[in-house]
Amino acid sequence: MASPQLLTDPFLQLPTESSVRVVWFTEFAGVRHTVAYGPDLKQTAVATTMRLSRTREDADSKLPTPAPKLIDRPIWRHEADVTGLPRDRRLPYRVTSVREDRASVSSATFSLAAAPSPGKPLKILLTSDHQLKPLAAANIQKAVETIAPIDAVLFAGDLVNVPDRASEWFDCCSGGAFFPVLQGRASYELEKNGVKTRYRGGAVLQHAPMYTAIGNHEVMGRFSSKTGLNAQFSDAFPRHAAAAQHRRSSDAKSIDWIKNNSFNTDTYEEIFSLPQSPQGGKRYYATTFGDMRLVVLYATNIWRVPSLGADSRGKYREREQDFNKPENWGWGQFIFEAIDRHSAQYAWLKQELNSPEFKRARYKVVMLHHPPHSLGENSVPAYADPVQVIDRDPSGKITAIRYEYPRQADVLIRDVVPLLESAGVQLVFYGHSHLWNRFVSPSGMHFLETSNVGNSYGAYVRDTQRNVPTNYKETYAATGDPHGAEPVMPTIAPLRDANNQPMPYIANNDITVFSVFDTATGTISSYRFDTRSPRSAVVKFDEFTLKR
Ligand SMILES: [Fe+2]
Repeated sequence: MASPQLLTDPFLQLPTESSVRVVWFTEFAGVRHTVAYGPDLKQTAVATTMRLSRTREDADSKLPTPAPKLIDRPIWRHEADVTGLPRDRRLPYRVTSVREDRASVSSATFSLAAAPSPGKPLKILLTSDHQLKPLAAANIQKAVETIAPIDAVLFAGDLVNVPDRASEWFDCCSGGAFFPVLQGRASYELEKNGVKTRYRGGAVLQHAPMYTAIGNHEVMGRFSSKTGLNAQFSDAFPRHAAAAQHRRSSDAKSIDWIKNNSFNTDTYEEIFSLPQSPQGGKRYYATTFGDMRLVVLYATNIWRVPSLGADSRGKYREREQDFNKPENWGWGQFIFEAIDRHSAQYAWLKQELNSPEFKRARYKVVMLHHPPHSLGENSVPAYADPVQVIDRDPSGKITAIRYEYPRQADVLIRDVVPLLESAGVQLVFYGHSHLWNRFVSPSGMHFLETSNVGNSYGAYVRDTQRNVPTNYKETYAATGDPHGAEPVMPTIAPLRDANNQPMPYIANNDITVFSVFDTATGTISSYRFDTRSPRSAVVKFDEFTLKR
């Protein structure tokens, strides 16, 4: 029997003033899993173990030996609470897993720490939308080379593509899976202009805790033991529609039924230990890390195609063949978790923004996945509940099912942003459209989308127009920020267009971008790296300081 292996290196989660969780994964249940830590690794914390409940592989898994069909992939997660830690002092640690046959495997030795005390200068990496994209390993490798040591990571959603496909987290895609990239164990060969460069990512998570927001790619759709994982990912169904199909009381079994027949974030929630809110659990929460109060929102909707073709289950319409089959409707780009002014999430947010922890924090940062302002593709249509319009001919036959998204009903712009602004939030950080651009409100609240990590989905300015319907009731912005915000030109070294004019964005499949928040100065710096010139230097192209 081959000697046991760890599926990941250990990583740090949920630091408190005197503790931190150490988490790792194996492909065996094992009999004992421990963390050795402290001087000479003499102290021991014993882990608790659980099996991930929904991890699977299928024929689309990018593995050396692909699965012939949909199969369960058993993976065990180990978590130890390392307590009694001194403040602001790093201690060495390593983990050991013992298999049923008593063979054991240990990680290398890394370092851990409790949450930093106020006033401690920190460098916090801002990233999002890795999704196994070709440049992700290069991006994180250059980030670590440029700003090490990184004290924490804020990840604004879309960690992988299909969250129930285990290999996307652990071992797929020519060495470019999620954990390998953020643990410096990737081996991703990138070819540009005939030159091949191998990138390893960076050893970040072994030493620095990560806080994540849910993006649309953390959400799985209706559960099936038959259809492929890509199909299940795309098959999210609104909870209200699932509940209408169910029509039973809300006992625990019914809640499970509705979840399996709508959407879920189970794999994401099982993988990560995060702060929790009473109302939203891990899905939206707030925490203090050093001088930063971080508020994380669950603000994402399903992504659907903009096409108006008769066979499109899209943003703006249902498929013709489904007109009389509501069970097959997509319901447009419905919002997974309400955040409008009448919602539980909004009530929690309001309470959080009034809390002493928020008010006394030196830095007030909000992270979410969906862009309030963006030149990218996904800022249109508005972040609003789709309004369904059913057209019928005189005989009553359905001739069209359309969805409209009134701009006035954009809940981020109408409800959330004014609340954040009045509470003195300094930075709103997000992703989703795979580009870099930023905005600033008249009062000085900054908006930063730093998701140009791998493939870009473009910036929509001048002749580059979004694919939007023109014969609908609403007017959908083909270019620019749909709410009229003007992007801020990078302050140091903007990229230039074909006419040598500076551009207020980076939307590029060769040039990858990362940003870092330095709490010593309140400065957010963005860097770019051109993968066409593997030996070129990283260029700091933008910097701004949070308003005090
Ligand atoms: Fe996204």
